[in-house]
Amino acid sequence: MLINKKHFRTIWENEDYGDICTIDQTLLPHSFEIINITNVKQAAKIILDMNVRGAPLIGATGAYGMCLAVKENSSDKFIDESYHILLETRPTAINLKWALDKIRDELIKTPKIERIKKSYEIARKICDNDVKICKNIGIHGFELIKNLYQKNNRPINILTHCNAGWLATIDWGTATAPMYMAQKNNIPIHVWVDETRPRNQGANITSYELKNQNINHTVIVDNAGGHLMQKGLVDLCIVGTDRTTYTGDVTNKIGTYLKALAAKDNDVPFYVALPSTTIDWEMRDGLKEVNIEERNFNEVNYVQGLDDQNIIKSIRITPQDVKTSNYAFDTTPRRLITGLITENGVLDPNEESIKKAFNR
Ligand code: MRU
Repeated sequence: MLINKKHFRTIWENEDYGDICTIDQTLLPHSFEIINITNVKQAAKIILDMNVRGAPLIGATGAYGMCLAVKENSSDKFIDESYHILLETRPTAINLKWALDKIRDELIKTPKIERIKKSYEIARKICDNDVKICKNIGIHGFELIKNLYQKNNRPINILTHCNAGWLATIDWGTATAPMYMAQKNNIPIHVWVDETRPRNQGANITSYELKNQNINHTVIVDNAGGHLMQKGLVDLCIVGTDRTTYTGDVTNKIGTYLKALAAKDNDVPFYVALPSTTIDWEMRDGLKEVNIEERNFNEVNYVQGLDDQNIIKSIRITPQDVKTSNYAFDTTPRRLITGLITENGVLDPNEESIKKAFNR
């Protein structure tokens, strides 16, 4: 998608089989800087520190982290150590484990001399495939928006939470892909963007994306969604996911569950944009089984922004030594979800429909 009218993907090789480049998302929207990743430890650190974030992009960065590892040392032992260093960075998004498993399993079967080439081939495929998946999510999700437009004949109001946009994937995004398709097809939309405390991915990143793409949107505080739904100002919600059980329970950024509850109470359709790479085929019960990441309490204590000298600063908003908690994700049970927008169509959130769509 576009930044200052120039097309970017979120991750790329600075030259074939070379270092890996990505956009530093901790500085957006105030500063646009590219990070050059040269080794596996650095790849792990940028995932942990959330310079890259969003389930599909975390997976792709993990895959490229393995490429850098193999360049350093192509032994089975180092491949295995690198796998674990990367895997331990962020526990909730399944895309990371999915991508790491894929690349490790293939590398172990590949002769050492061919491992560098093989690893890059797999990482490239993961990225290209993600672009295709997201585009197809866009095509299927667009139909939902189009139907609402044909019924109401006015701009369609969509509420989204966190950033499930192109900066969380390789391109297009998941929750945002239907919005971009609507724009391409001249269906007028307006997006309510939840700010998404504590890290403000909505206010900082989704808003930055939509602005660059010229999509009409308004940033709201996290607690405004229920009120807007009561007033009839939300036609549908579309959110992303970090892990969806094969039964349809969705784990996504903290606060998603509260939006789903409000949507249910107000008969607002609540959709989850779900790439198949985010389905956990081994997990039945999202509420009991998903490992919810708890992040550093200082993400709650401090807020980052631009001061009046245009310098990015972090300021404290809580009293010193106060107790804080920082659960990064929550699980929305399938009973609150209207549908799952996947690359294979819009599915009912249940085991039968999910397994059928993906031939499981
Ligand atoms: O903690 P983050 O910023 O990585 O969380 C991101 C989300 O919760 C997204 O909604 C999710 O990863 C889907 S991205 C297409």
